[in-house]
Amino acid sequence: MIDFNLKAKTAYLRLVDQKDATFICSLRNDDQLNTYISKSTADEEAQRQWIINYKQRELNGEEYYFIICRKSDDLQIGTVRLYDFQTNPKSFCWGSWILNENKTKYAAVESALLVYEAGFNILKFEQSHYEVMKGNDKVHSFHIKMGAEKVSEDATNIYYVFPKNQHEKNKVHYAKFLG
Ligand SMILES: CC(C)(COP(=O)(O)OP(=O)(O)OC[C@H]1O[C@@H](n2cnc3c(N)ncnc32)[C@H](O)[C@@H]1OP(=O)(O)O)[C@@H](O)C(=O)NCCC(=O)NCCS
Repeated sequence: MIDFNLKAKTAYLRLVDQKDATFICSLRNDDQLNTYISKSTADEEAQRQWIINYKQRELNGEEYYFIICRKSDDLQIGTVRLYDFQTNPKSFCWGSWILNENKTKYAAVESALLVYEAGFNILKFEQSHYEVMKGNDKVHSFHIKMGAEKVSEDATNIYYVFPKNQHEKNKVHYAKFLG
């Protein structure tokens, strides 16, 4: 079992558990938040079963699904997930990135930095890859500002890669967000 210990200034990540099914259902079925993410079940029992299946992938080291929590009171404020682990190049995808209205002001920056810390420095990937749906303008801007490189696009998505050396630079540039 990996001890991720992913803490930033106002938020931290902890691995998802079965008891998070209710929170995840409410988050993913919030119409203010789910325009640009894939549809998922609103049925809490189905979500709980999904988490049970995920926990096996977690044990196998194939995927890591985190709850983003507020540091001041441990409240759940969002989710983020590392998955689609590839070799040659050694690359991980991240997504299921959602923050609700209880987020701290810079929880987005903090959680992104923690995802890269997990992927690059704990899991030892060399690169990250992900897609963002066209129209999700704020999120495109976010990734570009952090140093993501656009590699391609199709009718639905823009595809990005993010190299490990960019994270090493960001750790210095954004040190104040890590606390
Ligand atoms: C994606 C998501 C988690 C991002 O969180 P967010 O809080 O909206 O992120 P923001 O871009 O507003 O960033 C938070 C703050 O950090 C600031 N910030 C962002 N990047 C920054 C950077 N590189 N340097 C300094 N500050 C930065 C922002 O300006 C913002 O501060 P402000 O409120 O003063 O403007 C959230 O929008 C969400 O849940 N969206 C719905 C689901 C979704 O679309 N997920 C992504 C699928 S690809």
